[in-house]
Amino acid sequence: MNIIKVKDTEMGGKEAFKLMKADIENGAKVLGLATGSSPITLYNEMTSSDLDFSNMTSVNLDEYVGLKPDNEQSYHYFMKEHLFNKKPFKNSYVPDGSNPDAEAATKAYDKIIEENPIDLQILGIGRNGHIGFNEPGSPLDGTTRKVGLTESTIEANTRFFEDEKDVPRFAYSMGIGSIMKAKKIILLAYGEAKADAIAATVDGPVTEDCPASALQNHPDVTLIIDEAAASKLK
Ligand code: F6R
Repeated sequence: MNIIKVKDTEMGGKEAFKLMKADIENGAKVLGLATGSSPITLYNEMTSSDLDFSNMTSVNLDEYVGLKPDNEQSYHYFMKEHLFNKKPFKNSYVPDGSNPDAEAATKAYDKIIEENPIDLQILGIGRNGHIGFNEPGSPLDGTTRKVGLTESTIEANTRFFEDEKDVPRFAYSMGIGSIMKAKKIILLAYGEAKADAIAATVDGPVTEDCPASALQNHPDVTLIIDEAAASKLK
């Protein structure tokens, strides 16, 4: 794994954008995207750049089950607010959280991923090492699935909702196996709360206990992290 240490989230966004730009110049056409706070500075770099994404495709990692795309807490909405309204892509895919039929929704998404192989995947990481919504215990070779969110993830996400009881308990998430098929991966992590997860990802064994540790087996992963997130590395 390559590790780039940055001063703050602003610099992280700039470093990630540089790598993304080079990848696009080298022919990348499909970006795998994440929501959450970690990629926001990267999305700001994208929206303020002169890059044109209208010939490109984006495939997002996950969506809450039970939220319609126009729900302000949905990941569809987040992506429009932070990126797509300002920089439209030719096609932008996010799992259909409004489809209660998990089998149909996840199969449809796997087909989308198969038809649009991801050139560059952007990831954040949960405090417990989750990537996408693949919580500890998730199969390291999994495809898109309906997943239950752990208490720690629900607690971390409460900040986006009025009340903890409003936080959805399930999500549709790309599996770790699908994430691993991306040609290149950039993982962004900032702050002390991520230090244990980053240490387990880089220095720990490859184990379902820390889903991001699977990235040790990927040939092209770059971690962009600040000093606090790097503080427990060996
Ligand atoms: C979001 C996602 C999650 C987040 C992770 C970190 O699409 O897949 O794995 O990347 O929960 O979230 P932040 O960046 O808010 O700390």
